Amino acid sequence: MPAPLLDLTGQVAVVTGASSGIGAATAKALGAAGAKVVVNYHSDEAGGQKVVDAIREAGGEAIAVGANVAHEDRAIHLIEAAREAFGTVHILVANAGLQRDAPATEMTLDQWNTVIGVNLTGQFLCCREAIKEFLRRGPQPDVSRSTGKIICMSSVHEKIMWGGHVNYAASKGGVMLMMQTLAQEFADRKIRVNSIAPGAIRTPINKEAWETPEALEKLLKLIPYGRIGETEDIANMAVFLASDLSDYVTGASLFVDGGMTLYPGFQDNG
Ligand code: BGC
Repeated sequence: MPAPLLDLTGQVAVVTGASSGIGAATAKALGAAGAKVVVNYHSDEAGGQKVVDAIREAGGEAIAVGANVAHEDRAIHLIEAAREAFGTVHILVANAGLQRDAPATEMTLDQWNTVIGVNLTGQFLCCREAIKEFLRRGPQPDVSRSTGKIICMSSVHEKIMWGGHVNYAASKGGVMLMMQTLAQEFADRKIRVNSIAPGAIRTPINKEAWETPEALEKLLKLIPYGRIGETEDIANMAVFLASDLSDYVTGASLFVDGGMTLYPGFQDNG
């Protein structure tokens, strides 16, 4: 039984990019906390279905909905599908994201546009549609103290500049001010908007950085806490931000990074 303020029973959560990695773990954690979950996937239908099955096996309710969130009609469809299946939406985790890395001088417009399209425009479209649904439904104080909760998946790279990844860093910097602006714009409607800024989490997106002992050793130099992050580290924060335990938190980027943003190189230097 979750602690009462962490209990999400009676709430509906949409998690984008939930067929693997951080999104999959977050969908499962929200399901375990009692939410009905809409598991969004783009191309990996089997992965999305696996997450749905896991939530159901644990006693929860879930459906899978395919949509590329960078496309406006699909983002609209995603929130509509949630409404059709479960009546409304209370929680959006705008998580879908990708990398297309290249030195800036070699980065193609397509690599730039793909990353901005999914990581920033895709998040905006899902936020816009979710907020419209929160406002349409209105407050349900017996379900949650806030009318709606949005959790944007940002990155330490909303703050740490990242050579070779200018498209990605720009998208996450954009997510930061988008999140803060939406938080400001809708706080009086009791909608909370926050970001999680993960550090290095063991997922397919950064496999190269942890799959060999040499790579992992190099990566760990950037992480004072001395371990790579696991997807559950992020999922736990998402449950907190979705729940009434965080009712007074809005407009915040919560760094879950084992200290990556603490300038570890300065611990004994400078
Ligand atoms: C990136 C990962 C990277 C991590 C820390 C994340 O946002 O997607 O590839 O390992 O930041 O640099």
